[in-house]
Amino acid sequence: MNDSLIKNRMEIINCMNGTYHNDIKQDVINGLTASRKFIHSKYFYDACGSHLFEKICCLPEYYITRTELSILRNAAPAIMDHFQEGDIVELGSGANWKIRALLDTVPENKLSNIRYIPVDVSETALKAAAEELLKVYPGLKVLGIVADFTRHMEIIPGGRDKLFVFFGSTIGNYNKDECNTFLKSIAASMTTGDRFLLGIDMLKPKDILERAYNDSSGITSEFNKNILNVLNRELDADFNLDHFNHLAVFNTEKERIEMYLQANRDVSVKISSTGLKVELKKGETIHTEICRKFSKDNIDRMAFNAGLSITNRFSDPEGWFSLIEMALLNTAHH
Ligand code: SAH
Ligand code: AVI
Repeated sequence: MNDSLIKNRMEIINCMNGTYHNDIKQDVINGLTASRKFIHSKYFYDACGSHLFEKICCLPEYYITRTELSILRNAAPAIMDHFQEGDIVELGSGANWKIRALLDTVPENKLSNIRYIPVDVSETALKAAAEELLKVYPGLKVLGIVADFTRHMEIIPGGRDKLFVFFGSTIGNYNKDECNTFLKSIAASMTTGDRFLLGIDMLKPKDILERAYNDSSGITSEFNKNILNVLNRELDADFNLDHFNHLAVFNTEKERIEMYLQANRDVSVKISSTGLKVELKKGETIHTEICRKFSKDNIDRMAFNAGLSITNRFSDPEGWFSLIEMALLNTAHH
């Protein structure tokens, strides 16, 4: 397809212009001077991190992507039955793989009634994925928004019917309070009749979970360590990736995988653009990610607390993953 035909259907807004550098600097200063060191997981996703995540999605141990996709393909006709025209807003859209299951149910002559709005912090991933999508779906319009969905929800344009989607159990990367604030901000962007489709990974035996985050080909380890490359580049730091080991363990009490980078010797790092010198003793960790796993009660409570009502639930035969469809509480018509 002709490049100009694609460009006419695509617009990109960047909310991060100028703020990314300050944000990462401040977040890293806070995280690496804390008594238990941490780096926020949103910094995984530079171009290389986004690419590594795509590789994770294809790993045999990482059941999440294929399970969610199979549920989504089955559920897509029922979900899209409510939604013939308007904006589909995808939060943390990454490579746009999953949205295709929904768009595939729309007849080609109706695609121009739909505008797809991917929202992601990773500008490179967002642009490349949007261009691919426009090639596959003629007539579809795309408004890409480079933004932090925990801070910039107000940028999403109103005025049309909306289907919000948040796949991959990315919600699990946020703690209880963060989830609550985030879900409330989605509810605040919704009006009567709008729907929100949320992909959630369910609790399951520890060995299955730990295998998914400790794959035998070492891709998750590369993904985890890449966050140090992001700091090396963005903040002129001198982390040596070989001085850290990947660690992913299931915390049974907190019902979450916890991912760490563990120093395999005493380490001293200069983060030049912050003026910070960071010392780690052998065995000390930097916490990089939580991946919470949910129960039905947990999901029900989370939805209710955010003012959302569950209109439909879809799952796989083993009950490993759930797709939850919600509407604003009081306005849901089942
Ligand atoms: N939805 C895809 C990708 C999940 S990976 C899937 O289900 O496979 C998580 C995605 O969310 C990445 O593309 C990352 O860049 C994005 N992301 C993480 N935190 C974000 C934030 N705070 N704001 C916007 N995007 C974020
Ligand atoms: C994006 N997110 C939902 C993934 C997860 O499973 O928590 C990120 C990931 N981390 C390690 N492997 C995959």
